[in-house]
Amino acid sequence: MSKPSVYVTRRVPKEAIDIIKEECEYRIWDSNDPVPRDVLLREIAEVDGVFTLLTEKVDEEFLQAAKNLKIVANMAVGYDNIDVDACTRHGVMVTNTPGVLTETTADLAFALLMATARRLPESDRFLRSGKWVTWEPMLLTGQDVYGSTLGIIGMGRIGTAVARRSQGFGMKVLYYDYRRNEEVERELGAEYCSLDEVLKRSDFVTIHLPLTSETYHLIGARELGLMKPTAVLINTSRGPIVDEQALYQALLEKKIWASGLDVFEEEPVPVDNPLLKLDNVVLLPHIGSASIVTRTRMATTAATNLVAGVTERCPSNLVNPSPCKHS
Ligand code: DGY
Repeated sequence: MSKPSVYVTRRVPKEAIDIIKEECEYRIWDSNDPVPRDVLLREIAEVDGVFTLLTEKVDEEFLQAAKNLKIVANMAVGYDNIDVDACTRHGVMVTNTPGVLTETTADLAFALLMATARRLPESDRFLRSGKWVTWEPMLLTGQDVYGSTLGIIGMGRIGTAVARRSQGFGMKVLYYDYRRNEEVERELGAEYCSLDEVLKRSDFVTIHLPLTSETYHLIGARELGLMKPTAVLINTSRGPIVDEQALYQALLEKKIWASGLDVFEEEPVPVDNPLLKLDNVVLLPHIGSASIVTRTRMATTAATNLVAGVTERCPSNLVNPSPCKHS
């Protein structure tokens, strides 16, 4: 019997390819750059499964082009690049990679919080540019993290992992989510609040929500206006949850003190993005889950899901269970 065929849309760790080639015929866009759309649409025409990254848009056009498709295995926990409803209509399974990146992403969120609060990149730029001439009492002074109030927007896996880290810094945790997380309330004494209250009372606000039509621009000019002038906003989830133009204005006019961003409305960030001109923002190129171990695990998880989906098994991590017809 011939093996199922799959397409891999980027160069990925060898460990993932080893899993795929065991049971599938595969073709790959073996490059660190995204596959051009026309190549992608051609390559998926006959395949049973596709391994995607968050740079690939899986929409009606994609699904029309892929006549035999059974599964889209996304190498990310977020899947806002995929029209899940359209996949369900076409009988195509969608999987993501939850769990394996939780702690690594929480580490990054906390590192970004610390770096922004204590102005680490700015201090590094200052020293390298030869501006350090003496010790000054108020030189590059930042905000205290220890003993401050942390507002978490989205208390899922990653939000919870960030909350746990905050305990080492004696932080009071407030949170907002669509649902209460009573376990976190019990375990860490986290206080459930309205979004406005979290924004008003927190010294640091960190966002850990998926991007959906409900969370698009959840944080705009009005919400930023509620924050303390000394507050810091951290976003490691998805850029469009924050209205970036409103954030730029708030940072420029010092309505909030600083922001640390790993995600943006447009990625990669265009060189003329005005945020690049501000000193009170720390900018990272979407590296939340970027440890060697975690990125390898994400790739092998996606590969395992992919292989299951094309070999009559129900993959783990289905985000649309209904199309899985295998038992
Ligand atoms: C995800 O998994 O959704 C990230 O943004 C990439 O780690």
